Amino acid sequence: MTIAVTGATGHLGRLAVDVLIARGADPADLVAVVRDPAKATDLTARGVVVRQADYADRPALEAALAGVDKLLLISGSEVGRRIAQHTNIIDAAKAAGVGFVAYTSVLDAQNSPVSLAPEHKATEDLLAASGIDHALLRNGWYWENYTNDLAGNAERGVLAGAGGDGRLAAAARVDYAEAAAAVLLADGQAGKVYELGGDERITLAELAGRMSEATGEAVVYQDLPTEQFQAALEGAGLPAPIAEMLASADAGIKAGALDTTSGDLQRLIGRNSTPAVEVLRAAL
Ligand SMILES: NC(=O)c1ccc[n+]([C@@H]2O[C@H](COP(=O)([O-])OP(=O)(O)OC[C@H]3O[C@@H](n4cnc5c(N)ncnc54)[C@H](OP(=O)(O)O)[C@@H]3O)[C@@H](O)[C@H]2O)c1
Repeated sequence: MTIAVTGATGHLGRLAVDVLIARGADPADLVAVVRDPAKATDLTARGVVVRQADYADRPALEAALAGVDKLLLISGSEVGRRIAQHTNIIDAAKAAGVGFVAYTSVLDAQNSPVSLAPEHKATEDLLAASGIDHALLRNGWYWENYTNDLAGNAERGVLAGAGGDGRLAAAARVDYAEAAAAVLLADGQAGKVYELGGDERITLAELAGRMSEATGEAVVYQDLPTEQFQAALEGAGLPAPIAEMLASADAGIKAGALDTTSGDLQRLIGRNSTPAVEVLRAAL
């Protein structure tokens, strides 16, 4: 069986390829779909088949998916362009005769208030309309989202956000990669919808505590109104659309949109999710 992974040079894609190989997939039966093969020389060296295709290039995608049985469609990172890009991939998968697609969506994509959700909802709807057998991996937040500025948080002693007392059921990327691999390697996955989140469901104030534990510096949580948080992010130099997206995500945390008690992640990976403090420590 041939399994393709899009975004295979990204963080999640690389981990998914690693887990598939660790679980016995023959690298020669894995197709890494990448936009820049120069970033995939390590995959080629491991015997993975690397094929070049940008999400914007429908013919290249169809060629890249030739002979593929199952596809892990990792959502693109170019927010705002993803409906057209994912349309290309799903159309190409259909034309290439791909039998099954697992798509990395977002928790409760059909109802989620976070600004990232509509592109995921649209992609889920495209998959449903495509008639291709598929499963939805509705991923929660990554703990890694809190590692980029961890040194800054420790230095300032502050984690600012707008999540109020909302709980965040995040997990490590590797947990989501293992879940994706489990779905790809199992039979009978058509029509499955997984709400994937960690079992450590904590508030941002508790996350600040985990930052203190990991860094050894006291970090406290400072809760701001959504608009003020967005303005603070822009003031710190983030582009307005990114600041808007992060503020919307925090409003989602406040509303419980990035929380889940489904247990789906734990069942798929056969263990508890990775604790936040481990991910934070590993990033230092
Ligand atoms: N759940 C969360 O907390 C969370 C957080 C961030 C992102 N996400 C979503 O989950 C996805 C995977 O996460 P990640 O951490 O692996 O993100 P990432 O490291 O940014 O990986 C994104 C992948 O998509 C590829 N890609 C983007 N635009 C493309 C295009 N036009 N054509 C072909 N490939 C394209 C990138 O290619 P290159 O390797 O060439 O850059 C990269 O391999 C993200 O893309 C995003 O949709 C989720």
